[in-house]
Amino acid sequence: MSGSYSRIVGTGAYLPAKILTNKDLERMVDTSDEWIYARTGIRQRHIAADEEQTSDLALAASRTALATAGIDAADLDLVVVATTTPDMVFPSTACILQAKLGARNCPAFDMQAVCSGFVYGLATADQFIRSGQYRNALVVGAEIYSRILDWNDRATCVLFGDGAGAVVLQRSNKPGIISSHLHADGAHVDMLSVPGTVSGGKVSGRPFVQMDGQSVFKFAVKVLDEVAKEALTANHIEKSEIDWLIPHQANIRIIQATARKLGISMEKVVATVDRHANTSAASIPLALDEAVRDGRIRAGQHVLLEGVGGGFTWGAVLVRW
Ligand code: ACO
Repeated sequence: MSGSYSRIVGTGAYLPAKILTNKDLERMVDTSDEWIYARTGIRQRHIAADEEQTSDLALAASRTALATAGIDAADLDLVVVATTTPDMVFPSTACILQAKLGARNCPAFDMQAVCSGFVYGLATADQFIRSGQYRNALVVGAEIYSRILDWNDRATCVLFGDGAGAVVLQRSNKPGIISSHLHADGAHVDMLSVPGTVSGGKVSGRPFVQMDGQSVFKFAVKVLDEVAKEALTANHIEKSEIDWLIPHQANIRIIQATARKLGISMEKVVATVDRHANTSAASIPLALDEAVRDGRIRAGQHVLLEGVGGGFTWGAVLVRW
């Protein structure tokens, strides 16, 4: 075995072509660009075409991540797709993606941790690589939330968007991923959920996102602050040593409140929520890809990724780039 860490050696992103602006939403529900922007920082979101599936978004992001890493799909040892909006009940979107990529003979599974899914997936793939079992892993966050929204409910439909982000992890002598910290508390199921289920060939219950927005807001800020501090303390790293904070992109006010509590300047925070809205498991890898490609994230820097989502689930991954 050479090396007992994993490094991110390639990133990729995909956003569907169709853009839905707040102005467009004004024609659909009783809302306004001013209300949405003031409460959330969102101006627009991307919406998948009818014929696009989550695995298609994942495929486009994955191809870019693999090309950037210089790795052939056939050399992947593991495919993990974080999603709450799979193509089908089963098989997993990861299996569908694996076939589309031509990455045969490697394990593939979905990670369901809602908006924390990418952080959960990254932490899981990192463990497989650290243990020496695998060399190359693909971790994807891909979502089509537009299909689980009630487009008549202005309280939720303005918040989300579709997209995918992917990373290739590779075994290395040096970190890479320094540590990961995952949490869940199932006591908060009702705070944020899609309560509908498929049973007897019928959807029973409401198959749309429902949430208690203010409780979600407070809970998210609390746990994003706690888990970031946990990652810093575990590694004896000062907040001043964090070069980039990439939190889940739900709402700019949650992001600002988290940064303020942590004492990290907004100049060190990567924010894409204005253009992407909340893409759930895709939001962190989409933001990461943007900051890598535009040159903000550079070799040797510390990047802290942190997610929070339904479950509730939350977690952080500290990376040395
Ligand atoms: N446009 C106009 N008015 C609206 C809209 C809208 N899109 N949505 C709600 N309103 C109205 C409400 O009906 C209410 O009207 P009322 O006072 O006449 O009853 C008023 O605006 C205020 O509603 P609140 O829910 O109190 O508004 P709040 O300031 O709490 O903002 C928001 C709502 C933006 C959802 C906020 O609570 C929030 O950001 N919460 C975090 C939730 C979140 O980001 N969830 C994403 C998923 S969670 C995750 O990813 C971890």
